[in-house]
Amino acid sequence: MWRALAMVVAVAAVWPAQAADPYAFFDWDVGYVTAAPLGVNQQVIGINGKFPGPIVNISTNWNVVVNVLNDLDEPLLITWNGIQHRKNCWQDGVLGTNCPIPSGWNWTYEFQVKDQIGSFFYFPSTGLQRAAGGYGGVVVNNRDVISVPFGRPDGDITIFIGDWYNKNHTDLRKMLDNGKDLGMPDGVLINGKGPYRYNDSLVPAGIEYETINVHPGRTYRIRVHNVGTSTSLNFRIQGHKLLLVETEGSYTSQQNYTNLDVHVGQSYSFLVTMDQNASSDYYVVASARMVNDSLWRRVTGVAVLQYSNSRGKASGPLPDPPQDQFDKTFSMNQARSVRWNLSAGAARPNPQGSFRYSSINVTQAYLLRSTAPVEINGKRRATLNGLSYSPPETPLRLADAYGVKGVYSLDFPERPPQGAPPKMSRSIINGTYRGFMELIFQNNDTKMQSYHMDGYAFFVVGMDYGEWTEDSRGTYNKGDGVARSTVQVSKLNYQTLQIYSVFPS
Ligand SMILES: *[C@@H]1O[C@H](CO)[C@@H](O)[C@H](O)[C@H]1NC(C)=O
Ligand SMILES: *[C@@H]1O[C@H](CO)[C@@H](O)[C@H](O)[C@H]1NC(C)=O
Ligand SMILES: *[C@@H]1O[C@H](CO)[C@@H](O)[C@H](O)[C@H]1NC(C)=O
Ligand SMILES: *[C@@H]1O[C@H](CO)[C@@H](O)[C@H](O)[C@H]1NC(C)=O
Ligand SMILES: *[C@@H]1O[C@H](CO)[C@@H](O)[C@H](O)[C@H]1NC(C)=O
Ligand SMILES: *[C@@H]1O[C@H](CO)[C@@H](O)[C@H](O)[C@H]1NC(C)=O
Ligand SMILES: *[C@@H]1O[C@H](CO)[C@@H](O)[C@H](O)[C@H]1NC(C)=O
Ligand SMILES: *[C@@H]1O[C@H](CO)[C@@H](O)[C@H](O)[C@H]1NC(C)=O
Ligand SMILES: *[C@@H]1O[C@H](CO)[C@@H](O)[C@H](O)[C@H]1NC(C)=O
Ligand SMILES: *[C@@H]1O[C@H](CO)[C@@H](O)[C@H](O)[C@H]1NC(C)=O
Ligand SMILES: *[C@@H]1O[C@H](CO)[C@@H](O)[C@H](O)[C@H]1NC(C)=O
Repeated sequence: MWRALAMVVAVAAVWPAQAADPYAFFDWDVGYVTAAPLGVNQQVIGINGKFPGPIVNISTNWNVVVNVLNDLDEPLLITWNGIQHRKNCWQDGVLGTNCPIPSGWNWTYEFQVKDQIGSFFYFPSTGLQRAAGGYGGVVVNNRDVISVPFGRPDGDITIFIGDWYNKNHTDLRKMLDNGKDLGMPDGVLINGKGPYRYNDSLVPAGIEYETINVHPGRTYRIRVHNVGTSTSLNFRIQGHKLLLVETEGSYTSQQNYTNLDVHVGQSYSFLVTMDQNASSDYYVVASARMVNDSLWRRVTGVAVLQYSNSRGKASGPLPDPPQDQFDKTFSMNQARSVRWNLSAGAARPNPQGSFRYSSINVTQAYLLRSTAPVEINGKRRATLNGLSYSPPETPLRLADAYGVKGVYSLDFPERPPQGAPPKMSRSIINGTYRGFMELIFQNNDTKMQSYHMDGYAFFVVGMDYGEWTEDSRGTYNKGDGVARSTVQVSKLNYQTLQIYSVFPS
């Protein structure tokens, strides 16, 4: 399952308004639309009648103003995944810093994408609404004066992949409230659509699938986001190399992949050159990872890449997923190969690597251990260090703004407590302003977890199997750990992140 963490910083930074930076205005009506992505009619969440929603295409330092009308029958809170809300952290759309918009009301999000570039997405962050859609892309382009570490692509394509249930989000929510697991999803959608009928016995007739139209010889920037609920997906395009160039606002060392694992909440951009002979269309595949293949075969997303000179439909078997049933190092080695390009400039012309995170002293370190869900007061709850967060009635930032005491406590344990029974809590990590924090996620659950640090980017410095120990620090990547906002931690593994509790600039 995916968890969004918000961090409260002791002192809020104040950014002067930049009058010269352009504004982009959006008017969104968020409401139910009827769709049948897997052949079963259901209410999905659309924006201005569209599912997925529109792409917010902006550039570094722009001010974004989104007037959202909530046409759903329940509260709505939209979060901007990976966008760093430096000026207005209460605009980030996470419960605690932001209130949901009541049904029938409108509210205007306003934020600046100060010193940012890259590929992100937005989605409704509460009540499992994301399982019903409501998501869309955010593209933050470089300013013209800053060079990008690759040639100008001939086109820009956004692809959303994600697991999908034929049960609607209110029914799924009921299952969780009754202590049940959501179970296996019914399929994987690509851009809100079901699979191409690559196999008559696995895919029923009449499913609408996504076709991506391209021209031979051209190179496209393809931005892939896993917008699902809990399934890690392997992404691949038949016959084509994926040149990884960016993840969540950082330019990576460019490297070719035939497939890449994209975990829930993660975003990647690839350059893909249409260098094949178009003897037929090509499959675009997103298939579940680290599961029993024969059981999960029907849970596979399949779209079609169609050249303008294509000579026929795609047919035959899908391109193979990684054959790593007996090689548990494959996925982790692939994740480790995602590195920061130290010499590339990003939002500013100075190279990304001029910010040397390894020379900064860590001021706080937290070891956060997850375990399999437990029962607390009769409900199924996830915990970190034995605590299951329960959002207080008064949002945290409002409590701060009005000096209300006792809404939350700042005593989050730095290490998993020994022998203490799990409990509900409103305990928050007390980040030091301008401090540099080390967060170690230890997964003692039997399932993959993925963590998103809302409004921040952290450096991924270490990941390995087994238990983290003090000695693990000796293996950290002190040079080119990538800065991003979402990481996966597979079962019985750990992942160490180092993070500034204010933004590096
Ligand atoms: C979800 O489905 C249930 C029936 O299973 C129905 O009662 C409920 O109104 C639906 N909710 C939405 C938002 O469509
Ligand atoms: C996004 O904006 C950039 C810069 O203004 C423009 O070059 C590009 O064509 C736009 N992309 C889309 C998909 O509209
Ligand atoms: C609601 O929408 C109206 C019309 O677009 C706008 O004038 C108003 O400012 C919005 N209210 C909020 C709180 O965003
Ligand atoms: C890193 O970025 C530089 C500067 O833009 C570029 O020339 C180089 O090809 C990139 N290197 C890799 C390995 O991606
Ligand atoms: C379709 O899938 C079924 C079930 O996995 C498999 O037995 C069959 O061989 C597949 N058919 C083709 C034509 O690949
Ligand atoms: C990636 O693959 C393409 C096509 O085969 C090749 O031209 C390019 O040199 C490769 N790039 C890297 C960084 O390996
Ligand atoms: C096109 O490419 C495919 C895959 O590389 C190859 O099997 C096929 O023979 C080629 N067809 C033609 C007409 O060149
Ligand atoms: C995968 O599932 C199938 C069908 O339920 C079962 O027969 C098989 O033993 C499972 N394989 C593994 C490795 O668990
Ligand atoms: C980091 O800590 C070391 C040892 O305590 C100290 O010598 C050094 O000056 C510190 N570096 C910075 C950048 O604060
Ligand atoms: C939170 O941290 C600040 C220093 O960063 C410290 O002054 C304050 O006492 C801490 N609060 C608690 C409750 O520990
Ligand atoms: C972690 O998991 C292992 C293996 O399932 C188990 O033996 C151990 O007791 C667990 N430790 C904690 C602290 O939950």
